[in-house]
Amino acid sequence: MITFKSMRYSILLVLFSTTLAVAGESPTRGEDLFEKSCAACHSIIAENGRLIAGNGRDNAPNLNDLTERAPGSDSSYRYGVSLASYSAQTPRWDQEAFVAYVMDPTGFLRSRLGDRRARSRMAYRVRYEADAIDLYAFILETQNR
Ligand code: HEC
Repeated sequence: MITFKSMRYSILLVLFSTTLAVAGESPTRGEDLFEKSCAACHSIIAENGRLIAGNGRDNAPNLNDLTERAPGSDSSYRYGVSLASYSAQTPRWDQEAFVAYVMDPTGFLRSRLGDRRARSRMAYRVRYEADAIDLYAFILETQNR
C-alpha cells in the first residue's frame, strides 16, 4: 500500500538525486554524453595513438589533452578562421570557456572576438549546462589515463 509517508520518502529521494546531478560533476555521466552526442564527430586519441573515446573519427578535432591546451591547437585539424583567431587570446580551454562554447559555439566566438560575423564550424549545441559540466569533467579525467 502506498502511504503518505512512503510517498514523501520517494519525493525526497527524487529531490536528492536531482540535486546530486546538478551539484556533483560526474565524469561517468560525461562519458555517456560524450559517446551519445560528441563521438559522431570527435574522438579522444592519446599521443601514443590509443583510442580513449569515440570511434577514431577525424572529421573534427581530437579532444585529447583539451583542458591543457590552447583552443584550435590540434595540428592535424584545419580549424575555421574564427576559432583559430580565438586561439591567440587564451592559453587553454578552462571549464567556463568550454561550457559556454559547447552550448553555443558560434555565439561564443562572436562574443569573445567582438565580431558579429564570426562563425564556428561545429554544428552542434549542448542544451543543458549540467551536461556541459559533466562533459568537461570526463575530458579532464581522460587526461590521467
Ligand atoms: C557535427 C559534428 C560535431 C559534433 C556532434 C560535436 N562537435 Fe565539437 N567540433 C566540431 C568541429 C567541426 C569543430 C571545429 C570547429 C571550428 O574549426 O570552428 C569542433 C570543435 C570543438 C571544440 C574545440 C576543439 C579545439 O581543438 O579547440 C570542442 C571543445 C568541442 N568541439 C567539443 C565538443 C563536444 C564536447 C561535443 C559533444 C557534446 C561536440 N564537440 C560535438 C564538430 C562537432
